[in-house]
Amino acid sequence: MTDAAANRYDSRTIGMMELVYGKGYLSAGGDEEVARIVSAVTIEGNDVLDIGCGLGGAAVTLVRDHRARHVHGLDIDSRVIERAVELVEAAGVAEQVTLTQFGGGVLPYADDSFEVVYVTATTCHLEDLAGFFRESCRVLRAGGWIVGGEWFKAADNAAFKCWDSLLREQGLNFHFVSRQQFETALSTSGFEQVSAVNRTQATSELTRDYLRRVETDLRGELLAKLGAEGLDSFLAWTRSRYDALANGGMYYGHFRARKLAT
Ligand SMILES: C[S@@+](CC[C@H](N)C(=O)[O-])C[C@H]1O[C@@H](n2cnc3c(N)ncnc32)[C@H](O)[C@@H]1O
Repeated sequence: MTDAAANRYDSRTIGMMELVYGKGYLSAGGDEEVARIVSAVTIEGNDVLDIGCGLGGAAVTLVRDHRARHVHGLDIDSRVIERAVELVEAAGVAEQVTLTQFGGGVLPYADDSFEVVYVTATTCHLEDLAGFFRESCRVLRAGGWIVGGEWFKAADNAAFKCWDSLLREQGLNFHFVSRQQFETALSTSGFEQVSAVNRTQATSELTRDYLRRVETDLRGELLAKLGAEGLDSFLAWTRSRYDALANGGMYYGHFRARKLAT
């Protein structure tokens, strides 16, 4: 199975994730998280590439709230792209957002096409991280930035192993690396000024809130959708993600790096 084929979330998983994370998102934090990630770069008037755009929440807020000139959203999964198209049309930003499905690997854009590459909770799916960063670097204009949020492996402890194996049970491919491996891959792929902000504590609190909501407010809806067994397994997934962050197995961070100005 190729990386791309192994990374398609099933539609039930997509539905549960969006219910917990909010409309348009397959990762934690919603529009506020996007705002934090892009706070150190200029989005206004710029062309942005959102790789692993998922359901389109980030593309919408980047245009609507941060005034991107145009956002190109790219994802390997045609079903999430279809959902993103619906969201972008409903938000009235379709003229400034182009959504494309691709097979992974080489990015379908010319060199020097974007000022910003935005990528959140997606590089953890990639086997060839350095190859991905080289491609991201190629499509950025000199001096452009790659920014995002990502999960890193912090320790090979029980909390990490539990979370990692639950994710794999969903049939998804994950290649978690340490923050240091991630930063090295960036700095050897044409980027400079590599930095990361530790968001583990904040994300741990957020995932604890999500866990509470799954146990209380969302419980009835999830039970109706998933049945008792499905709800139990989703609860286990939500608890395990919190445990991995709270017990030192995972690190969540925001990163940025700049394409070497030539
Ligand atoms: C956890 S979701 C995050 C989606 C979105 N960035 C968000 O924050 O809501 C990961 C996304 O990466 C996509 N994906 C997985 N492998 C990919 C690849 N090689 N290239 C582009 N997208 C990929 C998945 O289809 C999924 O939409």
